[in-house]
Amino acid sequence: MGKAFPDGFLWGGATAANQCEGAWDVGGKGLTVADVVAYKPHVDKRDYKALHGITSAQIEAAMASDDLHEYPRRHGIDFYHRYKEDIDLFAEMGFKTLRLSIQWARLFPTGTEEKPNEEGVAFYEGLLSYLRERGIEPLVTLHHYEQPLYLANHYDGWRDRKVIDLFVRYARVCFERFGHLVRYWLSFNEIDSVFRHPWTTIGICEDRYPADELEQIIYQCVHNQFVASALATKLLHQLVPGAQMGCMLTRTLTYPLNCDPQNMLLAQRDNRENYLYADVQVRGAYPSWVWRYWQDRGIRVDFGLDDEAILAQYPVDFVSFSYYMSLVDSTDADRREKVGGNLATGVRNPYLETSDWGWQVDPQGLRYALIDLWDRYQRPLFIVENGLGAHDVMNEDGSIDDDYRIDYFRSHIKAIAAAIADGVEVMGYTPWGCIDLVSLSTCEMSKRYGFIYVDLDDDGNGSYARSRKKSFWWYQGVIASNGEVL
Ligand code: BG6
Repeated sequence: MGKAFPDGFLWGGATAANQCEGAWDVGGKGLTVADVVAYKPHVDKRDYKALHGITSAQIEAAMASDDLHEYPRRHGIDFYHRYKEDIDLFAEMGFKTLRLSIQWARLFPTGTEEKPNEEGVAFYEGLLSYLRERGIEPLVTLHHYEQPLYLANHYDGWRDRKVIDLFVRYARVCFERFGHLVRYWLSFNEIDSVFRHPWTTIGICEDRYPADELEQIIYQCVHNQFVASALATKLLHQLVPGAQMGCMLTRTLTYPLNCDPQNMLLAQRDNRENYLYADVQVRGAYPSWVWRYWQDRGIRVDFGLDDEAILAQYPVDFVSFSYYMSLVDSTDADRREKVGGNLATGVRNPYLETSDWGWQVDPQGLRYALIDLWDRYQRPLFIVENGLGAHDVMNEDGSIDDDYRIDYFRSHIKAIAAAIADGVEVMGYTPWGCIDLVSLSTCEMSKRYGFIYVDLDDDGNGSYARSRKKSFWWYQGVIASNGEVL
């Protein structure tokens, strides 16, 4: 029997700057699209559209406010000031890698400056150096739902091609200044989420544009991101020999409700639409169905003269993805019971349990997703997000018995081991929110993912103190045994 996990497997955890750093107005940082997203305590937590929707009036109001509690991303978990303590805890768990993002607006407050803000550069230099000092390999996302707000407001987010050049300028600074510390990079987090939440992904506030032009605008934005990602990959290879760039997909694995051929075709279509985003970044070309789809709908996406050549010449080195749940589709979906999720709502799967937030827990689906991605792309895979958002209760003695989280991870890690035994090449596994942080969809703290508890509630009250959950010790044992002791 071979080993379940290869030597050098990158065990760790994942975070994003806008959900953990806080310090929204410290060190010369500019506002980002995340800083204007409000906590909506009264919205149904399963109503995905209502949670993610934002209006121009809400953006104006947020820009005029310096409130922290209404806008929880502004305080995060104060990782900005506490990163050494947190990294020490990650090191104690035995992390080999930490996924984190750089906030573009810390380096370029509006995104348009010629020179970077040196205070922002110094912050990330300190953070990345400390990771290295503690023996942890950084895995850095360049764009994780945190575009400078100025670009969203003045350049139509990612619609304006000039933003490609501004992004490449930002990427150049990252590679030149941090390249000696970082080997693994991701360009755009969940690049496929452009239609699900256009504000945070591409800086598009829907009420600013005619409804019948939105689809075209969104395709234009994501095209510009594809080109920016390819150019960043080119630059990375030039500036930092040996460094690798990955794409990052939300793997929205969709099953047909049953073997009705109509449902099979529907699920195939859903999966194909999801794969589009990795297809372009891995294969270096749009799949043929997209051209036909655009033509039939009269969608015109402007391509620069060299765009197709750029996409073809600079594909990514590896494929990373987030996986939380699987979905089900059916031709009569409108009449069936729905479940929630960070992706979209789907039809309830009768074989699966759901989390406290209505997300369907499906470890076998992770094995399926890994095999499928491997067979499609033949590129190393990296699971850069996976986890269970749950309500944690602290016992009187301060301990937290999160056995449900341990069960979740145990079953998913077994699924990864099974996929490896099926011949899939997996580089690593970084569970999401390895330390509790502010939720993307709900802006809550009470939706906790971490091995480390942060004393902070949904209204921003708490001491910010960190403590180890039961899963902390469990995951420490998993890493120490390279996945043998589960
Ligand atoms: C992913 C995002 O979609 O899901 C993260 O990349 C996010 O930013 C994570 O936090 C979990 O979603 P949520 O809404 O529970 O925070």
